[in-house]
Amino acid sequence: MESRLLVTGGAGFIGSNFVHHWCKTHPNHQVVVLDALTYAGNKETLADLQDRENFRFVQGDICDRSLVDSLLKEEDIDTVAHLAAESHVDRSILGPSAFVQTNVVGTFTLLEAFKNHYPSVGQNANRRCIFLHVSTDEVYGSLGPEDPAFTETTPYAPNSPYSASKAGSDHLARAYYHTYGVPTIITNCSNNYGPYHFPEKLIPLMCINMLLGKQLPVYGDGQNIRDWLYVIDHCQALDTIIHKGKPGETYNIGGNNEVKNIDLVKILCKIMDSLGSDLPVQPCEKLITFVKDRPGHDRRYAIDATKINNELGWQPSVTIEEGLCQTVEWYLNNRNWWEPLLSEEYQTYYRKVYSNS
Ligand code: NAD
Ligand code: DAU
Repeated sequence: MESRLLVTGGAGFIGSNFVHHWCKTHPNHQVVVLDALTYAGNKETLADLQDRENFRFVQGDICDRSLVDSLLKEEDIDTVAHLAAESHVDRSILGPSAFVQTNVVGTFTLLEAFKNHYPSVGQNANRRCIFLHVSTDEVYGSLGPEDPAFTETTPYAPNSPYSASKAGSDHLARAYYHTYGVPTIITNCSNNYGPYHFPEKLIPLMCINMLLGKQLPVYGDGQNIRDWLYVIDHCQALDTIIHKGKPGETYNIGGNNEVKNIDLVKILCKIMDSLGSDLPVQPCEKLITFVKDRPGHDRRYAIDATKINNELGWQPSVTIEEGLCQTVEWYLNNRNWWEPLLSEEYQTYYRKVYSNS
């Protein structure tokens, strides 16, 4: 059965990779992207899809109830993949209110609209309706060195305004299933990396700074651990869940790749040294600089993805070595994508975060 999909946040990092994945693997399905094009959204990333008959891009805010209502109805949407969010922890520390607005109020608006809409979808056609709420492992808080990885039953303990707002939105998605029967599914995923990642996040920031000969700022002692997943593997997991996941369930998604930040940065330096020619500073490790720590910085995240593996048969396919090489190569070859993003707004943000280090 061909689905009719609304992707929120489809011009962002994971959203755009997901839209590309979906259009490639389900070429006959209707895809509508709703994205406000905040600083993190980039319509250029979807430029190659603009001429497709069954693709539509709408610039708009997920908090705009009448816009969401009309899109769901007009496009006869049966599946929502909700990826729109304010997503950067450091920005949530500088200004949390946009996080509450988009992540909590925006998710609430979408859930309300979908609650009213989905019962009327293809009433005679037995179509599967799903509201996929894409969330993060950060809602579970921080792990000690010996703690077991997060499972779907780990209690929530968010530590940043970002993760608190995501936790709030997860609770709403869960409640709409239990109270109203809305077919929501929640995913909690570990750190993604890959193409089209906005320059403010660790891996693109390091790649771009190496290419520009700028310092590589490592927070605190660099011993914080993240569990890295190649974004295309995340997209495949979301696709599997849309088709086979059970409404009302939560699935953890992770890469089984726990790496200390400082080790990751050193690996990136080595890859860049080997792939890049005419780099401003070499070896790139010379650029590593320890800077003031992020307030409330979570020490370690790790995902136990046993459930999605056992129940839905998903597991990551890209090794971290392959994924990091492909990513560094992508930033080397796609200056025209990232250079325009280093705007005045970005420089101002950068100074705020890194200047008093
Ligand atoms: P991103 O910041 O790259 O993209 C977010 C997109 O949402 C942008 O295109 C932006 O324009 C859009 N957006 C923001 N506010 C909006 C609004 N009010 N209305 C409509 N669109 C709006 O984020 P990402 O890294 O692609 O993350 C996508 C989702 O996945 C988020 O929910 C995030 O919490 C979650 N997640 C991210 C990661 C990661 O490592 N990046 C890991 C796990 C989960
Ligand atoms: O775990 C999933 C989360 O991963 C997602 O929910 C978030 O949307 C996503 O941004 C990401 O959050 P992190 O805070 O883990 O990602 P970030 O890339 O900002 O940082 C990764 C690690 O690197 C973290 O320990 C902080 C550190 N760091 C980051 C930056 C930007 C540095 O040491 N220096 C930096 O300049």
